[in-house]
Amino acid sequence: MAPWVSLAVAALLSVSAAQFIPPYTEDCRTDMYPPNGPTFRGAVSWYTVDLDLPPSKRWTAVITAKKTDLVNMIQAIKDLANAFVPSGKLIELVDITLPLMVDTLPSPFGEEIKGIATVSGVPLGEVVLFNIFYEVFTVCTSIVAQDSKGTLYHGRNLDFGLFLGWDVKNKSWIIAEKLKPLVVNLDFQRKNQTVFKSTNFAGYVGMLTGIKPHTFSLTMNERFSLNGGYIGILEWILGQRDGMWMSFLTRSVLEKASSYEEAKKLLAQTKLLAPAYFILGGNHSGQGCVITRSRELSINILEIDLKQGRWYVLETNYDHWKEPFFLDDRRTPAMKCMNQTTQANISVKTMYDVLSTKPVLNKLTTYTTLMQVSEGKLESFIRDCPDPCMPW
Ligand SMILES: *[C@@H]1O[C@H](CO)[C@@H](O)[C@H](O)[C@H]1NC(C)=O
Ligand SMILES: *[C@@H]1O[C@H](CO)[C@@H](O)[C@H](O)[C@H]1NC(C)=O
Ligand SMILES: *[C@@H]1O[C@H](CO)[C@@H](O)[C@H](O)[C@H]1NC(C)=O
Ligand SMILES: *[C@@H]1O[C@H](CO)[C@@H](O)[C@H](O)[C@H]1NC(C)=O
Ligand SMILES: *[C@@H]1O[C@H](CO)[C@@H](O)[C@H](O)[C@H]1NC(C)=O
Repeated sequence: MAPWVSLAVAALLSVSAAQFIPPYTEDCRTDMYPPNGPTFRGAVSWYTVDLDLPPSKRWTAVITAKKTDLVNMIQAIKDLANAFVPSGKLIELVDITLPLMVDTLPSPFGEEIKGIATVSGVPLGEVVLFNIFYEVFTVCTSIVAQDSKGTLYHGRNLDFGLFLGWDVKNKSWIIAEKLKPLVVNLDFQRKNQTVFKSTNFAGYVGMLTGIKPHTFSLTMNERFSLNGGYIGILEWILGQRDGMWMSFLTRSVLEKASSYEEAKKLLAQTKLLAPAYFILGGNHSGQGCVITRSRELSINILEIDLKQGRWYVLETNYDHWKEPFFLDDRRTPAMKCMNQTTQANISVKTMYDVLSTKPVLNKLTTYTTLMQVSEGKLESFIRDCPDPCMPW
């Protein structure tokens, strides 16, 4: 049995002991926006990342502001690693091995990660681990929808920390909780002009959620796949490095692609280290798609298609042509609420309602981001899911 399967089983057992089964669902939420109440923990602050600075200096302001939270987070990851492999051998390995790999990362990622280690005082290998981490434990919901006037909206919940230590007392995921203070909004600029914006975690140089104003919006969801999921990451560690880290690809697409079509092509065709879903929205009618990727190629592209009545595309963590895993069906509740909202009524506000409905909102949800490309707007909110609430 693969190690992550036994991890999953252990987590399922501990969670079901906490009487969370059957899945907790509710009627579609309304009037949740502007965010308020117990599911809204707080606003996310903005920082500027100046791309004209050398890579090692770009993150100084963000890391200086978030240093304590980053150190706490890394300590939590170490505690967890030490709980699985007592004796500290795993972290020893991280501290010795991963720094050697940082120079093999494509520019500017290696340099940026080194800069983050310097400013935070966290050992380099542990910052590399923190940057790899997200490629593995992220479950999410992303939606791109078009209203009756042709305006596109892109929303996402970022759910992170599955299987990473259930806190029985607080009924929360230890890592998901530690991540919330690290959520930041970033404005990447060149010559004092915005190139793209992102919701991110301080200390992380890849992108999971971002917008190129007036051009496209992009989110990435993890695709669990037995054939290839973690093999590519292992291969990378062992020295075979011809695929790209998924969230480095999304970042370079946000930085370099100058149209929806160009972004779509790069996301569909670049060789990756692991499978993924890319959810892309544009600025013009019909520009919205879910790209289902294997490591090598794009397996399927599902697009908004008004002629077929498909005014939105929605992705959780399962191929859209297959049923979701019965214990983790966020797709049906999310689609039910989208259908109930109707195309005539979709907006930033109603999309927030959909993303606030349990179990689309769950104990792993760290943030909700809403984007509107035509306005160049990105806003994000830190979320909580008070009991009763599904653990994922
Ligand atoms: C868990 O709850 C305790 C007491 O209520 C609190 O001090 C602690 O910060 C909580 N931990 C997390 C990770 O939220
Ligand atoms: C960018 O703005 C800052 C202050 O807002 C200013 O000091 C700096 O000269 C500007 N740089 C450029 C390249 O315009
Ligand atoms: C939502 O509407 C679509 C398109 O009409 C339909 O295919 C889908 O089954 C509906 N889903 C739910 C959960 O209502
Ligand atoms: C749109 O939403 C508003 C309130 O959010 C509601 O009053 C109205 O009936 C909705 N319209 C449609 C077509 O569902
Ligand atoms: C994006 O869409 C808006 C509204 O339709 C339009 O005003 C604007 O010119 C478009 N921008 C680009 C770069 O196409």
